[in-house]
Amino acid sequence: MASQLPDGLAMPLNGALPSTVSVGSLHKTMSAYVHIPFCRVRCGYCDFNTYTATELRGASQATYVDELKKEIELSIEVLHCADVSIRPLHTVFFGGGTPTLLPVSDLAHAVQALRDSHGIETGAEVTVEANPDTLTEEYVEGLVQAGFTRVSVGMQSAVPHVLSALDRTHNPAAVDRAVTIIQSAGLEASIDLIYGAPGESLSDWRRSLEKAISLNTGHISAYALIVEDGTALARKISSGVMDAPDDDLQAEMYELADELLSKAGFQWYEISNWAKSQQQQSQHNLAYWTNQNWWGYGPGAHSAIGGTRFWNVKHPAAYAGRLAENQSPALSYETPNQEAAMLEHVLLGSRLAAGIPAQGHDPQAISSLIARGLIDGKHATGGRIVLTLSGRLRADEVVRVLLFRSQD
Ligand SMILES: C[S@@+](CC[C@H](N)C(=O)[O-])C[C@H]1O[C@@H](n2cnc3c(N)ncnc32)[C@H](O)[C@@H]1O
Ligand code: SF4
Repeated sequence: MASQLPDGLAMPLNGALPSTVSVGSLHKTMSAYVHIPFCRVRCGYCDFNTYTATELRGASQATYVDELKKEIELSIEVLHCADVSIRPLHTVFFGGGTPTLLPVSDLAHAVQALRDSHGIETGAEVTVEANPDTLTEEYVEGLVQAGFTRVSVGMQSAVPHVLSALDRTHNPAAVDRAVTIIQSAGLEASIDLIYGAPGESLSDWRRSLEKAISLNTGHISAYALIVEDGTALARKISSGVMDAPDDDLQAEMYELADELLSKAGFQWYEISNWAKSQQQQSQHNLAYWTNQNWWGYGPGAHSAIGGTRFWNVKHPAAYAGRLAENQSPALSYETPNQEAAMLEHVLLGSRLAAGIPAQGHDPQAISSLIARGLIDGKHATGGRIVLTLSGRLRADEVVRVLLFRSQD
């Protein structure tokens, strides 16, 4: 969730959706994202919509779950009025911020509110993001009782100087402990890593990958560090205190990740995501990438229903204020035209190992991408555009060629 909200048309105060959404929703699954916008401290690289205690401007963690419950009730009314049938949630994801800063009973109440309103499919993936130093056995037992099935742990690195360059507060041993607690409770654990932090060498990155692999989880995400405008990291880089990430080194780091993870039994299924089996792939993220329906609850959260996108007011105080007045927290909406929808389909779909259908794309563009080693020839013969390892490193270029036939 980027820190700036896009422009769009003003949403009516009751949150009513355009009538087109019911037709657009017919063949889509429904998911819920629940944003928890609180962090103890802000990591220097992060521009997510999250707030430390001093930034809350009167909003309160204590009343937050009640606000979420109100938005959940309102979403059912809005869907009902738009003739979108209410169907059990295919996936649920609590992200942040730091969801595990809230008492586990609050998370449980929010899950229950989703169950009571939408319903949740039997066996659905229900994930919560957790910072490693926020989990105890008791807390994780509470997550199990609440119905969570999966915990995504923000490990980022196993190397102290890299964690410190990222302003992470946990020490590396906290990750071992957190994963052990999660797995002993019978939940799936997933690990998030970041590569390319200032001062991180290829051998530091190898150490983090080896450590993450040794934790024996079924899922690992590895993200290239992005220097977001307005962050403390961006300021340190522009003032020369820290070095900017090096593109060539980040590419080598990606290749190393793919090599070590593949050897350890993981398979890439999206450019930044690897899983040991299909069931262990993030079903929630796949719902985003395959353009299903989802409702994003909480400040700044984005939703997609039947091809229409809408997003909530950004600050938790504004969010609380709207709900206290019985107004929708949704600020704006847009319905992308066919061209924009196609662009998004290619942008997101081409990042998946399943790829996108070759049909409809210029055969010459496809041949030139095969010749340059960026898409896989065998899959293309079978009618799918699937990136090769080099293609994964130059995915934006592949998309440009497919859509505009332009080459750098
Ligand atoms: C926003 S965090 C929320 C979860 C939790 N608070 C944590 O930090 O672990 C979700 C993930 O986004 C990734 N992330 C956030 N900012 C990033 C950036 N600037 N570059 C790359 N990855 C980033 C991190 O890997 C992080 O685990
Ligand atoms: S803990 Fe997670 S959400 Fe919070 S500032 Fe750090 S990366 Fe961002």
